[in-house]
Amino acid sequence: MSHPKRYTITAALPYTNGPVHIGHLAGVYVPADIYARFQRLQNKDVAFICGSDEHGVPITIKAKKEGITPQQVVDKYHAIIKNSFEDFGISFDNYSRTSAKVHHDTASQFFRKLYDDGKFVEEVTQQLYDEEAQQFLADRFVIGTCPKCGNEESYGDQCERCGTSHNATDLINPKSAITGSKPVLKETKHWFLPLDQYENWLKDWIIKGHQKDWKTNVYGQCKSWIDDGLRPRAVTRDLDWGIPVPVEGAEGKVLYVWFDAPIGYISSTKEWAERVGKDWEPYWKSEETKLLHFIGKDNIVFHCIIFPSMLKAEGSYILPDNVPANEFLNLEGNKISTSKNWAVWLHEYLEEFPNQQDVLRYVLTANAPETKDNDFTWADFQARNNNELVAIFGNFINRVTVLTHKYYNGVVPEPDNFTTVDEETLTALKAYPHIIANAIEKYRFREAQTELMNVARLGNKYLADEEPWKTIKTDEERTKTVMYVALQIAAALAVLSEPFLPFTSAKLKKMLMVSTALDPTIDWDSVSEKTELLKPGHTIGESELLFSKIEDEQIQQQLAKLEASKKANEAMNKEVTPQKETITFDDFSKLDLRVGTIIEAEKMPKANKLLVLKVDTGLDVRTIVSGIAESFSPEEIIGKKVTVLVNLAPRALRGVESQGMILMTENTEGKLVFVNPEEKEVKNGTTIN
Ligand code: 2FM
Ligand code: ZN
Repeated sequence: MSHPKRYTITAALPYTNGPVHIGHLAGVYVPADIYARFQRLQNKDVAFICGSDEHGVPITIKAKKEGITPQQVVDKYHAIIKNSFEDFGISFDNYSRTSAKVHHDTASQFFRKLYDDGKFVEEVTQQLYDEEAQQFLADRFVIGTCPKCGNEESYGDQCERCGTSHNATDLINPKSAITGSKPVLKETKHWFLPLDQYENWLKDWIIKGHQKDWKTNVYGQCKSWIDDGLRPRAVTRDLDWGIPVPVEGAEGKVLYVWFDAPIGYISSTKEWAERVGKDWEPYWKSEETKLLHFIGKDNIVFHCIIFPSMLKAEGSYILPDNVPANEFLNLEGNKISTSKNWAVWLHEYLEEFPNQQDVLRYVLTANAPETKDNDFTWADFQARNNNELVAIFGNFINRVTVLTHKYYNGVVPEPDNFTTVDEETLTALKAYPHIIANAIEKYRFREAQTELMNVARLGNKYLADEEPWKTIKTDEERTKTVMYVALQIAAALAVLSEPFLPFTSAKLKKMLMVSTALDPTIDWDSVSEKTELLKPGHTIGESELLFSKIEDEQIQQQLAKLEASKKANEAMNKEVTPQKETITFDDFSKLDLRVGTIIEAEKMPKANKLLVLKVDTGLDVRTIVSGIAESFSPEEIIGKKVTVLVNLAPRALRGVESQGMILMTENTEGKLVFVNPEEKEVKNGTTIN
């Protein structure tokens, strides 16, 4: 669509079963925000829409695990997620939630319309049922082997390894995620969207219509889906959390989460329109509207096949013009995982890097997983901040503003005649809005941001070549011209950086007083079209540093945090030794366990593992030979309180008689540690029972 009248830009509704992390930001919300901010700067009519996805099985699983209600789960994470988006400057026009009444009403009406128009197939089928939990097993309540790729941990509705979306009954060896039991098949009635009937239409619309303008990864996934043949898909579930199915005979059934969630874009638009006094319908029903869905790759099939088929079935809606889905972002070489705490959580980042939202936005865009999975590393984060934001962007702005204050008390000087270099620099500058816009319109945000940095590079090179700090001593007029040109570049950066680095842009606009300046109508195109952004005689504000260096210690701290997560996971995954045979109380009371203190320790000659200890057991001081030499040096254990089995039959080890045993265990790193009484006051010889 070449000249849309308005834009409806949606960003995937995040599930409210956990906070949001850098993967979400990089894959969906930052690119969507860049796009929305850019279109607004072009004075376009934009509705940037999102909200919380509060239904679905993962939320009920989380609630069960934490012993709270699903509503409590969604209330908690809706608030956290909404705040994180605000904190990172994601400029939604509306952030709603699918538990809102407007959403329940909109989704119910949508279902009812399709139902009344006979668009569903009603069928009694056999579904997986957990007899122990007395519940049908839909979606994430069931785990089994993916029929397509063989992943043994596939969910009932989707395999996270190969992205295939299937019916729970397609799984090989299904197992209940609630009780671990093998489900049985039980009859139940559901409503199906007959996707097979939309196959030809989808072929025309996607395979013929969007081969050129959709991203290869998106187009490829859709094609493979369609080529495999589409099957009817159930849009209702036997669950008690969700939107009740609004027809008779559907008690105890709710809408499938992937049926209601994308309708959430529509209800969020309604909520927004109501609030700002607009009509929502043109944003969803006018052919002059460009509808775009920003999502991650695991959502492609839902946004390109299922939701469009729903919209088509309803009949009065437009279809997405594009679905610029991203691949995944990994963290330090491993897949980001909520359950393994292998993530950089947005709310935690801000506690550790206060006011540095733009640094993360910048790094995530520079490294965006646009065409393939990408990796976020803390070393790269530090390098991009220190070598790019500080050394290029920040340095240029700092030089311009400091010199303007120093030479002209902060007043933009009147230029003299322009040299060829000045002319060329200004011409190059005026080309950037188009260059950056071009990349953004093609959803190439990395490239767009690189071009933005090239504006700062242009400025740095210009100053380095023209050396106003030298000419100030010899040629005042020349210096004025150079500073004038440099100030125009700085003002252009303030405007062009807004979609990418909104906080920096605001700070820079304030520093240069661009917004209150001579011309409050400065927008994207004015960088190309206006002869000057900052007029001579205009006074700029105080100079401030835009970025600051990130030190090695800060990075080390982040790496240590990740290392701790890794250790905790390893410990959790370690197999627990099975319980031994039951013993009687009498058996146990035969063990004489006492508190003791190690008073001497030395290595056993020619034995790597053994230490010879003298232990005060409260009864006596005795010799115990212990196999702990690889975990402790003799010096570090003298004085340690330990637990001693004192009535173990003595035995000779390398010729030394050992008269007891010290109880040991292993820590998460596999290192031996003492089982020692924590209470310092416990006296040697006290029995343990
Ligand atoms: O993958 C997810 O996090 C889903 N909650 C995305 C839903 S997008 C939309 F359709 F609402
Ligand atoms: Zn699979």
